[in-house]
Amino acid sequence: MKTIASNITLETERLILRPPTRADIPDIVRYAGDPRVALKMTRMPHPYHLGHAVEWLDSIEEDLKNGDAVFAIERKSEPGFIGIISLELRSDKCSGDVGYWVGVPYWRRGYVTEALREVLRYSFEDRGLLYVGAWHMTGNNASGRVMQKARMKFEHIVRGGCERFGALHDRVNYGVFADEWRFEGG
Ligand SMILES: CC(C)(COP(=O)(O)OP(=O)(O)OC[C@H]1O[C@@H](n2cnc3c(N)ncnc32)[C@H](O)[C@@H]1OP(=O)(O)O)[C@@H](O)C(=O)NCCC(=O)NCCS
Repeated sequence: MKTIASNITLETERLILRPPTRADIPDIVRYAGDPRVALKMTRMPHPYHLGHAVEWLDSIEEDLKNGDAVFAIERKSEPGFIGIISLELRSDKCSGDVGYWVGVPYWRRGYVTEALREVLRYSFEDRGLLYVGAWHMTGNNASGRVMQKARMKFEHIVRGGCERFGALHDRVNYGVFADEWRFEGG
């Protein structure tokens, strides 16, 4: 297994966003293996095995070369992996897309909203991106609410815009421009 070549760590009031490591594998497998998480994600294998976590960690190195950022979410109050938030750069290199999930025991405590706000700050202030997008499968209102609370704007729905297990689902797109984000107070 390769070493992960990112050392960017971000901080919020309650969270540390740090590079994922091999030590996270048991938690990744446990939390990502829960269908309540996996079935909302379009690219996450299900059922989720140890080999998937190993393969995913190995793939991060390539993602980082592309300029992407991948963070494990950890609480300051209690060490340990609780979820993932990532920024994937688009080919224009001045815009990107965020994605996230947290383990079910940590839902509804405001953690992903807090993490997303910081990743938007990082994207605009530290990386100088001009636009960040995010999207969810129709019906995943919790994810849409997280985007709204981080001040991303609803854009449009792409009918049949994403595929999961051979079925097409509508894709709900959100986004925010750097200028809008700054204008509204960063
Ligand atoms: C969607 C998800 C990331 C939300 O994370 P979270 O840390 O629980 O979200 P927050 O606590 O920051 O909540 C933000 C808002 O969403 C609402 N919310 C969170 N989970 C919810 C749920 N299951 N049902 C309805 N609303 C929900 C919260 O009530 C809050 O809104 P409010 O302040 O108006 O009450 C988490 O449920 C998850 O990982 N789900 C599975 C994977 C997934 O869907 N990833 C996103 C794919 S696009």
